[in-house]
Amino acid sequence: MTTTETGTGELLRPHAEQTFAEELRALAAADDRPRPPSWRLSPWAVVTYLLGGILPDGTAVTPKYVGPRRLVEVAVATLATDRALLLLGVPGTAKTWVSEHLSAAVCGSSTLLVQGTSGTAEEAIRYGWNYARLLAEGPSTGALVPSPVMTAMHRGSLARIEELTRIPSDVQDALITVLSEKTLPVPELGTEVQAAKGFNVIATANDRDRGVNELSSALRRRFNTVVLPLPATEDEEVAIVTRRVEQLGAALELPAVPAAADEVRRVVRVFRELRSGITADGRTKLKSPSATLSTAEAISVLTSGLALSAHFGDGVLRAADVAGAVLGAVIKDPVADAVVWTEYLEAVVREREGWSDFYRACREVHE
Ligand SMILES: Nc1ncnc2c1ncn2[C@@H]1O[C@H](COP(=O)(O)OP(=O)(O)O)[C@@H](O)[C@H]1O
Ligand SMILES: [Mg+2]
Repeated sequence: MTTTETGTGELLRPHAEQTFAEELRALAAADDRPRPPSWRLSPWAVVTYLLGGILPDGTAVTPKYVGPRRLVEVAVATLATDRALLLLGVPGTAKTWVSEHLSAAVCGSSTLLVQGTSGTAEEAIRYGWNYARLLAEGPSTGALVPSPVMTAMHRGSLARIEELTRIPSDVQDALITVLSEKTLPVPELGTEVQAAKGFNVIATANDRDRGVNELSSALRRRFNTVVLPLPATEDEEVAIVTRRVEQLGAALELPAVPAAADEVRRVVRVFRELRSGITADGRTKLKSPSATLSTAEAISVLTSGLALSAHFGDGVLRAADVAGAVLGAVIKDPVADAVVWTEYLEAVVREREGWSDFYRACREVHE
């Protein structure tokens, strides 16, 4: 069944351009600034879509990304040049999220996507063949199966490449001609596909992967790199987590659980302290566990807590609903991380005023 038949109401996870179709329409209507060739919105409107704002007609645009405005401006401006955009950062810093929203805002579609893995083949970046037709007709335009990149070149839109540095180097190099010459040769047909105006690429890469160095210098020169940081302050991270947990809870149709603010702050505090290796008051040094403890993980810890509380608890999010998931996120290595966690629990959580319920809940699941 196609999307139009079901409507987005039935979809488990609509694309950004579906979820925010209304906002994108209002932005396009309010936007009288110059648009780069084949862009749906001006760079200014794309930045407003990402960071949120109030339009002259009173429409509220929700913030999608919370972070430095300048970063988003650089990212958007890059897409209007002949250089591609590389979003770099540790896991859970919203690289994929920003890439999806940027494509939705710039070209109305976030679905021309190549998922990079060690098994990604050249066909995913260039083109493949429909073998039945190839055998029947020989090489022909009809037998050619375009990659998302080729389709984006045709349409003059954005292609997304996720986890670029996980792709084997020789396959990555297929992008060099595409990005430098803006053309994709098809020697079998003696032709080429030349990119229409508006074509560009947004890639993401994880700087915890050995990865980045594997990006050849030839390819690296074709990208402008924007590093997405972890949220600067606890308040900022609490705001991000609160908003996403609400949205996810609504999308999953979890029964509403009132005022989870205390638990959100607590989970964020625990994650930030363990991540940075020092308590929020700066008094106690801590060991960090091997886990990333990203904002994205805090979001999923709280979402599972909400589901527990809504279905099996008393409808209020309590320490006992999140303790299990916090533990699961922190302890990836059952030996070393368990030691780090126990030290943190006894030295910090136990002593902290107002945290005795959390301490008890954590002790119970950790026994
Ligand atoms: N600064 C931020 N602003 C808004 N959302 C964020 C931010 N940081 C993390 N998130 C949330 O974290 C989740 C996961 O991000 P994702 O894009 O998958 O991370 P990455 O690709 O960097 O590993 C998303 O749901 C996103 O909403
Ligand atoms: Mg990602």
